[in-house]
Amino acid sequence: MAGYQCPPHVHLLDQTNQLKALMTMIRDKNTNRGDFIFYSDRIIRLLVEESLNHLPVVDKPVITPTNNEFNGVAFKGKICGVSIMRAGESMEQGLRECCRSVRIGKILIQRDEETALPQLYYSKLPEDIASRYCLLLDPMLATGGSAMKAIEVLLDNGVKEERILFVNLIASPEGIAATLKAYPGIKIITAEVDSGLDENKYIVPGLGDFGCRYFGTDA
Ligand code: URA
Repeated sequence: MAGYQCPPHVHLLDQTNQLKALMTMIRDKNTNRGDFIFYSDRIIRLLVEESLNHLPVVDKPVITPTNNEFNGVAFKGKICGVSIMRAGESMEQGLRECCRSVRIGKILIQRDEETALPQLYYSKLPEDIASRYCLLLDPMLATGGSAMKAIEVLLDNGVKEERILFVNLIASPEGIAATLKAYPGIKIITAEVDSGLDENKYIVPGLGDFGCRYFGTDA
């Protein structure tokens, strides 16, 4: 969004013409499902690659085939993905393409009909998640309700706040503000920040219901 100043813990992908063209494809309501999946997957790949840039590394000297030393680096520590069901599951493949055999946990959160508060219905996480960096996957950061509940679950399981990277395609300023107010130590990696939310809590201009468009359950 023009004029939006990203808070320090928000990392926006470089706003290249390529990214803008990919985002335009998935925002267009006339884009068919095959193209929606294809272009979303491309953006997800860019997001995962950017997220990996935020992980710490240690020195790793190696000997090249010319028998010379190269002072390289290797990732320090282990990672895992955690997808917020259902839409976050669309991001798992992009993570697997970058991180072979990566462990992926799942969290299902739904709004309680009576209280309107996000409620945890299911979670299955790697046993050693407390020692891992965690890429939390959800394509749309709208109000931040599900994100904050998911982060609470990760913290309850011993994950350190500063080891959580929350990865999404589109974020709202409201969702960013609420999530970082509650959990200032996390990082948010996003492709674009939109102008706000409508009365149904959809991101505007947004792209509609990501999960329904990706998984083909819209009208
Ligand atoms: N989830 C979506 O899929 N879209 C929105 O705009 C907000 C939440």
